[in-house]
Amino acid sequence: MKKVYIETFGCQMNVSDSERVASTLAEKGYKLTDNEKTADIIVINTCSVREKAEQKLYTQIGRIRKGRSEKPVIGVMGCVAQLEGETLFNKINGVDFVLGTRAVGRIHTAIEKVMAEGSGHTDLGEREPDYDWSVSDAQRHSPYVAFVPIIEGCNKFCTYCIVPFARGREVSLSGSEIIRQVLELRRQGVKEIHLIGQNVNSYKPKTDSGLEDFKGSTYFSRLLRAVAATGIERIKFTTSFPRDFHPDIVDAMDENENLCNWVHLPVQSGSNKVLKDMRRLHTIERYFERIDKIKASGRDIALTTDIIVGFPGETDKDFRDTVKMAEYCEFDSAYIFKYSPRPGTPAYEMDDDVPAEVKTERFRELERVQKSIQTRHLQRYLNKTLKVLAEKVSAKSDEDISGHSTCHKVVNFRGSNVILGNIVDVRITEIKANSLYGEVCS
Ligand code: 5AD
Ligand code: SF4
Repeated sequence: MKKVYIETFGCQMNVSDSERVASTLAEKGYKLTDNEKTADIIVINTCSVREKAEQKLYTQIGRIRKGRSEKPVIGVMGCVAQLEGETLFNKINGVDFVLGTRAVGRIHTAIEKVMAEGSGHTDLGEREPDYDWSVSDAQRHSPYVAFVPIIEGCNKFCTYCIVPFARGREVSLSGSEIIRQVLELRRQGVKEIHLIGQNVNSYKPKTDSGLEDFKGSTYFSRLLRAVAATGIERIKFTTSFPRDFHPDIVDAMDENENLCNWVHLPVQSGSNKVLKDMRRLHTIERYFERIDKIKASGRDIALTTDIIVGFPGETDKDFRDTVKMAEYCEFDSAYIFKYSPRPGTPAYEMDDDVPAEVKTERFRELERVQKSIQTRHLQRYLNKTLKVLAEKVSAKSDEDISGHSTCHKVVNFRGSNVILGNIVDVRITEIKANSLYGEVCS
C-alpha cells in the first residue's frame, strides 16, 4: 500500500480540497500518513495570495529532497499549480506532477501516470460533471466540525488579488446538494459546519436550487434558512463580501439560533480612494451601514476582518482613515497584511510606491491599535457564559480541553476528554491575547 502525505497551505478552501483528495486516495487504496519522511508520495497544496505563501513551496520542496536518499513522488496542487502549470517543472527541481484547482478529482490518475510514465504530468482541466464534493468521515480535520463548500471561484477581481485567476469564475453548488450534505454530516455526528467559499454571500445556484420553500431577499439568506432548518447544531459561514452582505443575512441570524453569532467581513481599507483603486465595489460608508446592522442585532455578533496596508498610492491620510475605521468597527480580531504585488493582477502594473519601511510602520501601528481595541472589547466576555464545542485536548496541557465558542473564539477550559464532541457552557474567567479561558458551569 503506497503511503501519501498531504501538506496544506492557505485558506479553508485548500483545507477542504485536501480533505477531498485524501478521501479519493483512501478510496483508491492508498494509505494517508502524517509522516512525511516515510511517505512514498507527497502532495503539496499551495497558496499564492501573498508572495510569502508562494515562497513556502520552494523551500518546502528543497527541504523534502535534502532529507531523503530515495526521492518520493512529489505533486503540487492548489493555486500555485493552477497559475504556474508546466513551468513548475523548470522552476523547481523534483516536481513530478501539477494538478490545477479544478482537477483535484483526478489525483489518483496523476499519481498512476507518474508511476507508469515518469514525471512531467500536468492536469489543469475542468471538474468532472459528477464531481463528489463530500469528504469521508475519516479524512475530516475534526470529527465534530466540517467544511461545506457552497461556492467556488471569484468574479470580483479586486485589483491586488490573484484568486480570480487561480480559482476561476464563481460557481455555486445546488441548494439540494448542500442540504443533502449537511443532513448526512448531522447523521454522522458532526456538530458544526462551516459554509465556505471566497464570497459565500454571492451564492447564486444555476438550476435546481432546492431552496424554493425558504424565504429570503437573496439566494444566500434563503440557503442560510434552509441549512438552519436541517437542525444541525451550529452553522458558521465565511468569507462574506461587503457589497453583497444583504441586511437579510442578519435577520436570518436573528431568527435562527443555530446560525452562529460571527461574521468575517474583510474591509481591506478605511479610505474611499484606496477602496476604489482596489476595486472593492463598496465605499466605507456602505461598509459602516453593514456594521451598524450587525451591531444592532439582538445577538452579540462577533466581527472579524482582513486589512491590507501599503497598497499603491496609500497616503498617510488614507492610512489614518483605516485606523479610524478600525476604531469605529471594534473588530474582535483583524488579519492585517502588508500589500504584496502579485504578477498578473492589475495592481501589479501600479507603482508600488509605499516604501517597505513605511509598510512595516503602518502594519505595526495598526496592529498595536487593533490589539488595544481588541483587549478592551473582549472584556465583554469576562464572567459571561459561552457555549463551547469541546473539540480536542489542548496542545498546551493534557488537563485542558480546547474548542470554539459560537462567536468563533478559541476557548480553553479544565476538563477531560470524555466530553469531546459535546457543547458545554463555559464561564469565561480570563481574557488572553488570542484565546479565552474559562470553567465549565454545567
Ligand atoms: N497582498 C496582501 N494581502 C492580500 N490579500 C489578498 N491579496 C493580497 C495581496 N496581494 C489578503 C486580503 C484578503 C486575504 C485573504 O488576503 O486581505 O482578504
Ligand atoms: Fe480576492 Fe477580492 Fe475575490 Fe476576495 S473578493 S477572492 S479579495 S478578488
